[in-house]
Amino acid sequence: MTLFLPFLLFASVAAQYSITDYAPTINAPCPQASNNVLVRSFTPQTQALNTQEGSYLGARESNVIPAAWSDWVGNSSSIGYDLALFNGSLPRIGIAVGGQGYRAAQFGAGVLSALDARNGTAKSLGTGGLLQVASYLAGSSGGSWLTASLMLNDWPSPSTLVYGDGRALSGWMLDLDLVAPSGVNLGDTDNQAYWGSILASVEAKANASIDTSITDLWGRALSYHFLNQTTRNNFYTNTTGHGVGQLWSQIPLSPSYADQSMPFPIIAADSLPSGSESTPVVSLDSVVYEASAPTFPSFARLAHSSSSHLSSLGLGIHHCLLWFRWLIQARI
Ligand SMILES: *[C@@H]1O[C@H](CO)[C@@H](O)[C@H](O)[C@H]1NC(C)=O
Ligand SMILES: *[C@@H]1O[C@H](CO)[C@@H](O)[C@H](O)[C@H]1NC(C)=O
Ligand SMILES: *[C@@H]1O[C@H](CO)[C@@H](O)[C@H](O)[C@H]1NC(C)=O
Ligand SMILES: *[C@@H]1O[C@H](CO)[C@@H](O)[C@H](O)[C@H]1NC(C)=O
Ligand SMILES: *[C@@H]1O[C@H](CO)[C@@H](O)[C@H](O)[C@H]1NC(C)=O
Ligand SMILES: *[C@@H]1O[C@H](CO)[C@@H](O)[C@H](O)[C@H]1NC(C)=O
Repeated sequence: MTLFLPFLLFASVAAQYSITDYAPTINAPCPQASNNVLVRSFTPQTQALNTQEGSYLGARESNVIPAAWSDWVGNSSSIGYDLALFNGSLPRIGIAVGGQGYRAAQFGAGVLSALDARNGTAKSLGTGGLLQVASYLAGSSGGSWLTASLMLNDWPSPSTLVYGDGRALSGWMLDLDLVAPSGVNLGDTDNQAYWGSILASVEAKANASIDTSITDLWGRALSYHFLNQTTRNNFYTNTTGHGVGQLWSQIPLSPSYADQSMPFPIIAADSLPSGSESTPVVSLDSVVYEASAPTFPSFARLAHSSSSHLSSLGLGIHHCLLWFRWLIQARI
């Protein structure tokens, strides 16, 4: 019995999602608003952190971060600071990883690796440790691919994430091209099967009457690399959902969130003026969205209640969009 267990677990994970699960559930009941306030009202005097963000930070800053400071800075014997002189007043640190596609994701991973106490070289040089004392890790665009990949893989070290560990983590597999993974021959069977899988996902979403765009195709392609359901062995198959079931809002379920060992994750997304199709320098008055893992579901509700498109589907205010794939499908 015990011998069969790993196989059964693997089989149930593999069977959990299919590529067409990319379609959101559009008429699900909303969560109990009394337990989980979706829309906050505030005045300039009453602004406060979202309760879940506040309680995560409180727990991380009392249970995890003091020991991490002590481990990093110590008593000045190694890197020239003395924690005792901080007099118990530790600065709150946030790290933000900027954008620019794969380049930003890889550059960000290299920098985070150099700040990570789990990297022995970085630790001995004195930079490794800053990552562990950070309260926040934010990302935008390519930086959000890195942030999401770290969080949705349960906070491995950046080098394990990027190169894989030969076991559960298969790495980013950056040698497999995003557009034509099996080479420049567009008629190649593997390329064709790959595009067929991506198209089927996006078509399933379109069939649920949700608008789709080129960012859906792009986001699906990225999921093969940054999420953990794709390996070299299943890359050209439909035996897994290739990340369709992994949601930004599920990060709180991961063990590294439960014990507050990861910094609080935030993704920032800029918006373009209504009607604009180009992406030049975005003007400073464009709305900037901030999506943290526990607060993101409220955005789905907001998006729903304000969208005339969804109203035209006959959905009332008590219906929510579940599993709305916004994570890396939007160009963030
Ligand atoms: C500082 O740390 C070093 C190395 O851990 C230790 O040998 C030394 O006794 C410590 N000094 C004080 C004053 O705590
Ligand atoms: C250190 O903190 C204590 C308690 O908060 C305070 O009484 C003391 O003045 C502080 N010392 C310095 C040097 O800031
Ligand atoms: C430590 O970080 C540096 C800088 O990113 C990187 O070159 C090196 O490979 C890392 N070492 C390990 C063991 O991850
Ligand atoms: C992928 O990561 C998620 C979140 O940490 C985890 O629940 C899941 O088991 C992982 N899946 C695989 C195939 O490793
Ligand atoms: C989407 O709907 C079309 C038309 O009904 C159907 O042919 C197609 O198979 C559907 N695609 C998916 C992925 O469900
Ligand atoms: C996955 O299924 C879709 C829809 O049936 C098909 O077009 C595509 O070729 C399949 N991909 C693979 C890798 O088998």
